[in-house]
Amino acid sequence: QELTYYDAIDSTQYAAHKLAQEGIGEGHVVIANEQTAGRGRLGRVWHSRSDTSISMSLILRPTLPPQKTPQITLLAAVAVVRAIKKNTGLTCEIKWPNDILLNGKKLVGILTEMQADPDLVHSVIVGIGLNVNQQKEDFGEDIEEIATSLSIAGGKTIDRARLIADILSEFEWLYEEYLSKGFSTIRPMWEAYSISVGTYIYARMIKDVIYGYAKGITDDGVLLVEDEHGKVHSIYSADIEI
Ligand code: BTN
Repeated sequence: QELTYYDAIDSTQYAAHKLAQEGIGEGHVVIANEQTAGRGRLGRVWHSRSDTSISMSLILRPTLPPQKTPQITLLAAVAVVRAIKKNTGLTCEIKWPNDILLNGKKLVGILTEMQADPDLVHSVIVGIGLNVNQQKEDFGEDIEEIATSLSIAGGKTIDRARLIADILSEFEWLYEEYLSKGFSTIRPMWEAYSISVGTYIYARMIKDVIYGYAKGITDDGVLLVEDEHGKVHSIYSADIEI
């Protein structure tokens, strides 16, 4: 069985971690119609409503050192952007490291987590949350200004099953490219869809803010930002403001 489906679950991410721990094989997908405790990056809450969003977690077992896993987040973002384009004609933008925006508002969140020893990855869980058929009022006051859905942007109801199938098939071929040829095939695609490269940005970190020119990403998925003194900073984790 390659797919586990739940009508409602706390978080597909937890379920996927558990299945991975129990030894399930690569490529298994956990999908839920509704999450009651969806998780975002940095301990944030991820809202996923029944019937209108896509919540899924993909289990992978690549032979990789742990510091390479950010590449998989970037790969997943490329897969989702391509699937959305194919399915709806809408062109999204990627904001480093893992946000997918449409018209400047958040459409998709990706959360990549791993189970690993210091030198070996046992499993990587890629969680994807996508706003599909929500209407503006579904979001609630606090997030309606910053979030959007495919239906809001495109004015149509989207078939979620079809879109999931497209995301998985895009993911599959990109992942195979990645495993056979390395990240160098993925990076140009990611940079082409990215709005956080080739522009001035603020990188907000827990204690620090860096303002500078985002030059690009490294093969490890690290964002390189050059400040006004010409010093290049390697950003591993931050909120980016453009
Ligand atoms: C973020 O932008 O902060 C990442 C959001 C990730 C949400 C997805 S929905 C499927 C999976 N299950 C979760 O609890 N989170 C991820």
